[in-house]
Amino acid sequence: MFNKRSRIKELLGTDRTGYEAVVMGWVRTFRNNQFIALNDGSTNNNLQVVVELGQYDESILKRITTGASLKVTGEVVPSLGKGQKVELKASSLEIIGDSDPEKFPLQPKKHSLEFLREIAHLRFRTNTFGSVFRVRHSLAFAIHQFFNEKGFVYLNTPIITASDAEGAGEMFKVTTLELGTPPKNEDGSIDFKEDFFGRATNLTVSGQLEGELAAMALADVYTFGPTFRAENSNTARHLAEFWMIEPEMAFYDLEDNMMLAEEFIKYIISYALTNNADDLNFLAQRLEEEEKQKPQNERSEMGLIEKLEFVTNNNFERLTYTEAIDILRESNHNKKKKFQYQITEWGVDLQSEHERYLVEKHFKKPVILTNYPKQIKAFYMRQNDDGKTVAAMDILAPGIGEIVGGSQREERLDKLVSRMNEMNISTDELDWYLDTRRFGSCPHAGFGLGFERMVQFVTGMTNIRDVIPFPRFPKNAEF
Ligand code: 4AD
Ligand code: MG
Repeated sequence: MFNKRSRIKELLGTDRTGYEAVVMGWVRTFRNNQFIALNDGSTNNNLQVVVELGQYDESILKRITTGASLKVTGEVVPSLGKGQKVELKASSLEIIGDSDPEKFPLQPKKHSLEFLREIAHLRFRTNTFGSVFRVRHSLAFAIHQFFNEKGFVYLNTPIITASDAEGAGEMFKVTTLELGTPPKNEDGSIDFKEDFFGRATNLTVSGQLEGELAAMALADVYTFGPTFRAENSNTARHLAEFWMIEPEMAFYDLEDNMMLAEEFIKYIISYALTNNADDLNFLAQRLEEEEKQKPQNERSEMGLIEKLEFVTNNNFERLTYTEAIDILRESNHNKKKKFQYQITEWGVDLQSEHERYLVEKHFKKPVILTNYPKQIKAFYMRQNDDGKTVAAMDILAPGIGEIVGGSQREERLDKLVSRMNEMNISTDELDWYLDTRRFGSCPHAGFGLGFERMVQFVTGMTNIRDVIPFPRFPKNAEF
């Protein structure tokens, strides 16, 4: 067997010494022809491997370069150096893969995140991305654990679909037809009957509608899968391909929905705080250094860990859209015309600058906004008695803005159909969806958490492109 090795995290995690261990990993640095800092991805803390002077020929030593992969066997001994309790005294050393130092793009120095994005295939080998992706993993695990503990069923909804769940028309088409010469109908439109599925299809924007079907039998379900939006948003919070968690619950109203969402967010943050302390401390320090580059008034008031603890220990602020509009309209920020989009009237959609003002300046904590005007929300949201608003809820997080979007669903068939007609959404095509309202309909609700926005929030990374391994955004589908 080749891979009988110890994880560096385990070796460094105890004071135990005087035993033999085999480690494999990649060289971060090699000093004085004697000290190798070896990393195997289990932690940012490198294992110091000590090679005795004269133990190896010059020809071997020359191949111990940044990026090379090694197998080292040796004795775990107390370390005299600073920063670690133990180190490995090499008894045998094998170079598994060479790395030409003239060509390896990662040098043992600080690289900008922009540069690292261009070499995303190698950026896993930096401390920052090691930490980000270990935390991302932990959050994914915590999400499944949270729902499993609550008896939810994990549901896989289709990635290729014929429906536009959000009705926003931001879909990537899926087809096997020839681009240049697709078959045409008599009226000149494309004849999708000839296409692979015999109809027009697209990549899913949300698994919600299918989630609702399952919730009408399994009661509590959640999805966790990739979703796709062809919106041309070049921002630090938008991706064309992102992962979303969408729980959907029968016999739930908006209040139940808010309580679950808040508990859920706190649970996964606490999980990371407990299980990723080293990585979060590293990221906190990284963020602190990044913040020092900013002018005083733009720096965050709390450090990363402090912010996460604050969020888990305090209730989210709840208010209606209407109350939020009043706060924004009356704010000095608005009066002094500091918003790019002035708030003048009820009914306008909130821009991220407004969301961030509410959470960062006004309340200084996460906010749940409810009961939005119906004209800025999707067709499936439950209509309130006022005739103007729907039972929507968005959760806004400091530094991010909208992190969750959800609602109580319209369970009354007649109301749903009339709203679909008003919004020009085909009731024929969604007849299967309407069946849920025909047979044993019940109050139900759900929400979607943008996974990358959550990872951003927990890791403190400023750009969403740095929390997914291979980001997809306008004009970029590298790797
Ligand atoms: O608010 P959205 O569009 O809601 C839905 O898709 C509903 N079907 C969810 C539901 O009720 N089941 O998206 C939900 C969340 C947003 O709050 C945001 O966090 C994230 O998904 N999101 C994006 N994340 C990254 N890039 C994008 N382009 C995103 N669009 C939405
Ligand atoms: Mg939304």
